[in-house]
Amino acid sequence: MEGITSKNCRVIMKGIILAGGSGSRLNPLTSVISKQLLPVYDKPLVYYPLSTLISIGIDDILLISNPNQIDLFKKLLGDGENFGINITYAVQKEPKGIAESLIIGEDFIGGENCALILGDNIFISEHLSKSLSIEFLGGAQIFTKTVEDPQRYGVVNIKDGKPKEIIEKPDSFISNQAVTGLYIYDKYASSLCKSLKPSKRNELEITELNQLYLNNDDLKCLPLGNSSIWMDAGTFDSLQDSSNCISSLQKRYGRLVGSPEYEAYKSNIVSKDYLLKIIKNHPKNSYYTSLEKMLKQD
Ligand code: DAU
Repeated sequence: MEGITSKNCRVIMKGIILAGGSGSRLNPLTSVISKQLLPVYDKPLVYYPLSTLISIGIDDILLISNPNQIDLFKKLLGDGENFGINITYAVQKEPKGIAESLIIGEDFIGGENCALILGDNIFISEHLSKSLSIEFLGGAQIFTKTVEDPQRYGVVNIKDGKPKEIIEKPDSFISNQAVTGLYIYDKYASSLCKSLKPSKRNELEITELNQLYLNNDDLKCLPLGNSSIWMDAGTFDSLQDSSNCISSLQKRYGRLVGSPEYEAYKSNIVSKDYLLKIIKNHPKNSYYTSLEKMLKQD
């Protein structure tokens, strides 16, 4: 299986899912289980970022989580065989910032390009794989979305198509373009992260890493158009809204959304027969029945 590639762009085969953090905003839901294992309608939240990485052709994934949760992720996803990909695991001892994931994952990245996705981010977008396959030429690439509450996110100010300023959760308005939790970096990202200093909240901030690329004129921003849906399921309301949204999309179109198995099939990572065999090992009238139906329709 080839990763994302085109005539001019470098290949991205590796991806990191960051699925740790304290989940404090979702307590007590997260008092015994990680946020990324909570249900979003009919699947655990982590299935959605996993599907996104697979949909852009990534088949070698490192999942990072807390010491006390990592075994649950291993139980759920295993070595990735069910999706035809390779999944390995690493621990983040304490939530010391999103950028720390690129230091923890340095050996895994092994000097290649890498995609990083936050384990609580849901993307429903045809646009993603298309834009990536044409446009990743090194440096860093972020994806933006117009939002009504920019103070909740990293925000970027774009002028004449180029990023001018990037600020984490700005107190005053600089733009309504939120930085979503999917980032593509070239091979320099891990060493750049090592040069970052912890912020006031004692984290290595991903926004600071993006600022370094911006200073170097090496940060590219791709807007996710109006037809793309992006949700950060990190609050009670957004978790509930995400479930409602997935449920109505699936009911309206009669198709699963955010299925890693189906994305692996669509990306030619696994064959239909391979998945149909796997489905046989799972209970009837569950998610797997919907997956089977969808595969048979194709
Ligand atoms: O969702 C997009 C936003 O995600 C971006 O716009 C922001 O620039 C970025 O900082 C981040 O903001 P959040 O406030 O949503 O970050 P949060 O602390 O909630 O962490 C996001 C995910 O990463 C969450 O699933 C937990 C995980 N995480 C976070 C930290 C700080 C870790 O696994 N380890 C960590 O150390």
